[in-house]
Amino acid sequence: MINLNSKYKTVINFLKSEAPFEPEFSIILGSGLGDFAEQIHTHKSISTSDIPGYPASTVIGHKGKIHFAEYENKKLILFQGRVHFYEGYDINECVIPVFISYKLGADKLLLTNAAGGINKNFSPGDLMLITSFNGILIKKELTDLIGLTNPTAKNNFLVLPHPKLNSVIKLSAQKEKIDLKEGVYFYTKGPTYETPAEIRFIEKFGADAVGMSTVHEAVYAAYLGMKVSAISCITNFAAGISDQKLSHSEVTETADRVKDTFAKLVKSVIKSV
Ligand code: HPA
Repeated sequence: MINLNSKYKTVINFLKSEAPFEPEFSIILGSGLGDFAEQIHTHKSISTSDIPGYPASTVIGHKGKIHFAEYENKKLILFQGRVHFYEGYDINECVIPVFISYKLGADKLLLTNAAGGINKNFSPGDLMLITSFNGILIKKELTDLIGLTNPTAKNNFLVLPHPKLNSVIKLSAQKEKIDLKEGVYFYTKGPTYETPAEIRFIEKFGADAVGMSTVHEAVYAAYLGMKVSAISCITNFAAGISDQKLSHSEVTETADRVKDTFAKLVKSVIKSV
């Protein structure tokens, strides 16, 4: 288990000296959803490339910015862009936005991502509240991350997503008349999209949507004692669910198409937490 306090001491000290306030609510914006940061009042924006010791993201559509913003008197920290395991980073580097949020004072975290839809009732453009995470493919990494390496440990992993925060999200969707789907998010390591056979395989194990992020962030946040929930934007049919070939541009185009609905939902959530 790596001590993130010492690993990211410089990053945290730098951000503490730059932060205009102590944020209470953190939001990590997934592929194509970063636009949200431009829709609300921002006090300060910092490029992650200007932060000494911050791992750089290489994915198109991930901006790599941290925003200190405010909406409805709520103090927010927004992450535009994340780093992924498939980019070659260690899992303890992938959770840096969670660690920063926690160290700066946020006790609530909303994770968002782009995901492929497996559930036949989902279409590209739908938003899905994550009801449970399947991180079976990175269980060892997750366990190492939070230091539960003792095989006799009775800790049956962590309670997540946070039930109350999920209720707030559902109520917000109702209030805004948004048809919010619900389902299980299945993590794959990537970097390539899945094959149709892989999707059929994970579908049998109860997955409603598939993606390459979020699970480690949720586990780490819950481990730190944060209230964490997550919303997927279904950007495409997962491989084999339709005949269409997958592409990253489809992912960002769909996310862009639903950005207003996404923003409406997130704003309503911020108001109610
Ligand atoms: N698979 C994995 N990750 C994804 C997908 C997908 O179909 N869409 C967006 N992120």
